[in-house]
Amino acid sequence: MRRPRVMLFDSGVGGLSIAGSLHQSLPWAELVYVADNAAFPYGGLAEHTVIDRTLATVRSSLDKLPCDVLVVACNTASTVALPALRAALKVPVVGVVPAIKPAAQLSVTRHIGLLATPATVRRPYLDELIGSFAADCRVERLGIPELVHWIERLVAGSPLPGVELCEALAPLRQRSLDTVVLGCTHYPLIAAALRECLPNVRFWVDSGEAIARRTAWLLDQQASDETAVDSRFDTTPNPEPVLAVRFSGDIPAGLVGFMAALGLGVSAELHCS
Ligand code: DGL
Repeated sequence: MRRPRVMLFDSGVGGLSIAGSLHQSLPWAELVYVADNAAFPYGGLAEHTVIDRTLATVRSSLDKLPCDVLVVACNTASTVALPALRAALKVPVVGVVPAIKPAAQLSVTRHIGLLATPATVRRPYLDELIGSFAADCRVERLGIPELVHWIERLVAGSPLPGVELCEALAPLRQRSLDTVVLGCTHYPLIAAALRECLPNVRFWVDSGEAIARRTAWLLDQQASDETAVDSRFDTTPNPEPVLAVRFSGDIPAGLVGFMAALGLGVSAELHCS
C-alpha cells in the first residue's frame, strides 16, 4: 500500500496555509509543494500568462512526481486557470476561490469585508460569486498590493511591518462589518496579526478546510475504485509529510523552519529550478 500524494501549487509561499489544513485533515498524505515564485506575484501578470505559466509549471512537476490530486492553492491562478488545467490534465484538480458563500452564511450584520490581491478583487468571477451567494450583503473589497510581499519576506525571516499593516486594513474597520473573507492563500499565515488589527471582526473565513474536505473526498473516490490497481491507501500518520518542494526561483531562506512550525516537515527534496 502507498500513501496518497497531493500536489499543491501557488505563485509563492501562500499555498502553505492550504498545505497545513490538508495535513491536519489527511495526516497520512504525502505532499509536493510547487511554487512559481520566479513570476511572483501572479496578480501583476496578464491572465493568459497566469494560465500558461500555471499549466507549464504543474505539468513539468507532475511529470517528475505524479500525484493523485492537484490543488491550485492560489486564488489568483484559480480564478482564471481552472478550466484550462482541467481540460489539459488527467489528474483531478481542486481550485481555491474566495469563501464568499460561507461568509454570507455567517454574517449577522450582512456586512462583509473581502481581503484579496488587487487582481482577485477585480475579477469578474468575484462579481458572480457575490451575485450568487451574497446578493443581500454589503461587500467591501480591499486589495493591498504590498501584503503578499510582506508575507513572503516574513517567511524569509523579516518581521511584518505591524503599523503599516494596521493602517492598510483601515477600510475594513467599520462598526457594522462582522465578517472578513481571506481571499488569498497567503493571508491565513498571518491570521493572528490580522485579528489584532481588526479586533471587532467576529468571523474570519478562509478556504483551507473546504479544500481539505474536497481533496479527501476525491481521494476516497479513488480508493473505492476497485478496478484500479493499488487503489487502497496507507493511512498511518506521516510525520514528515512533504516529499518535495519545487520553487522556480530562489527558495526563501527561512522556508524549512516556517514549514516545520506548520507541521509540514520536509522528508526529501528541496528543488530550485
Ligand atoms: N497566494 C496567491 C493567491 O491566493 C498569491 C497572489 C499572487 O501571486 O498575486 O492569490
